[in-house]
Amino acid sequence: MSITIKTPQEIEKMRIAGRLTGEVLDYITPFVKAGVTTNELDQLCHDLIVNVQHGIPAPLDYAPGGHRPYPKSICTSINHQVCHGVPSDKALKNGDIVNLDITVIKDGYHGDSSRMFFVGEPSIQARRLCDVTWQALWRGIRAVKPGGYLGDIGHAIQSFVEPLGYSVVREYCGHGIGRKFHEEPQVLHYGRTNTGLRLEAGMTFTIEPMINAGKADIKKLGDGWTVVTKDHSLSAQYEHTILVTGTGFEVLTLSDGCPPPPEN
Ligand code: MF3
Ligand code: CO
Ligand code: CO
Repeated sequence: MSITIKTPQEIEKMRIAGRLTGEVLDYITPFVKAGVTTNELDQLCHDLIVNVQHGIPAPLDYAPGGHRPYPKSICTSINHQVCHGVPSDKALKNGDIVNLDITVIKDGYHGDSSRMFFVGEPSIQARRLCDVTWQALWRGIRAVKPGGYLGDIGHAIQSFVEPLGYSVVREYCGHGIGRKFHEEPQVLHYGRTNTGLRLEAGMTFTIEPMINAGKADIKKLGDGWTVVTKDHSLSAQYEHTILVTGTGFEVLTLSDGCPPPPEN
């Protein structure tokens, strides 16, 4: 498979899938409180996607090469969990930070977005990590333009977070997206300017930096999915689905409740 340039008709469908994805995150926000289980959040999102949006939760039964089928409809990654946390009957507790990662398929096209949520009052350090990760995502987004390079995105993220003492997870990356959940290219969250693939109008991909408060090293748990930091340091992630336009970028997963872009 190679990189697909989306037609105007496909881009319209990507806009719809992206907006629905953002709306799931908006919808679930008031439910993310101490005492709720991640299974309850999963069920609420599943029901909204299936019964109201008439879409498909892409994670459910997703089984890319080498993985067992993913058992739930969303990913819920708490504290030192980096990504792909599997919802369970464990309740969220005051002070947790949790990433909810939503992927909706609508009319054959995917939207993919995640945000961090605060349960009660997390520590200053936890909130700062989330804020830096949000800013890092937007540094990456603002590096997107036709004629630019994929490496510009990774460089924008890495050169922002590392001087602040944070590290970039290497093993997982953003990805092309469209008819398939994960398409080419891989969008690394580290790198060098003017390297890698040349960006072209009509490309759609995600940017989804995973930033650790400690070392970059990660490991996968025995459930075959949940990724955690090796040193148990906190990890944060935000994700948007992006279209390369004729002049720059369009964020396809914006919604009313999405945190506003940082000033710079
Ligand atoms: N949504 C994740 C991403 O951003 C992928 C989750 S795969 C799953 O690429 F199977 F765990 F859902
Ligand atoms: Co993604
Ligand atoms: Co995602």
